[in-house]
Amino acid sequence: MNIIVAITGASGVIYGIKILQELKKNQVTSHLIISKWGKETIKTETDYSISEVEALADYVYDETDMAAPISSGSFKCDGMIVAPCSMKTLSGIAHGYTEDLIIRAADVTIKEKRRLILMVRETPLNPMHLENMLKLSQIGVTILPPVPAFYTKPETIDDIINQTVGRVLDQFGIEIDNMKRWGNLSIQKEAVKER
Ligand SMILES: Cc1cc2nc3c(=O)[nH]c(=O)nc-3n(C[C@H](O)[C@H](O)[C@H](O)COP(=O)(O)O)c2cc1C
Repeated sequence: MNIIVAITGASGVIYGIKILQELKKNQVTSHLIISKWGKETIKTETDYSISEVEALADYVYDETDMAAPISSGSFKCDGMIVAPCSMKTLSGIAHGYTEDLIIRAADVTIKEKRRLILMVRETPLNPMHLENMLKLSQIGVTILPPVPAFYTKPETIDDIINQTVGRVLDQFGIEIDNMKRWGNLSIQKEAVKER
């Protein structure tokens, strides 16, 4: 399996990093692009260096490299995850304005009818953000904001990240460790027992 992962300059770059770690564990070939502001956000939000993040991927491309293999539909690939996805990159994808390799690869993913997951992150959302998400959702793009579920009773930030990453990788049929599913939760078992 080949998956493209893009990290853009929105809060929550740790999701992209965790996704790369899980893809590696599951022997999925990863193709990574980090935008200029994605790199700045990695420095701001995490203790990872850019080279440590890049080392998690099988292939790394510069966001300006429009001649990279993933820029073409002839490159065989199973889909793409933008984690996290800034409102700027969301807008570029929604409008087909392929000014960098991240938006071009997403544009190709859409035209080739492959799976595209956008972990969009901004709050609050303005009408342009919402319109761009709706437009893409209507053509089959998965809009998957990193919104935590509290029914899993997370105890650490890692629990929250893990659960959301599990939901993203579910889209590709990739199972990760310690993923809590509603049907398997003890709270639900208790509720069933009481009935
Ligand atoms: C630390 C930091 C956090 C940011 N968080 C967000 C965010 O959550 N959502 C967003 O849309 N933009 C956010 N921005 C602004 C984007 O980085 C900016 O719009 C940038 O142009 C996005 O470009 P890119 O999509 O090519 O990475 C943030 C910027 C910084 C420096």
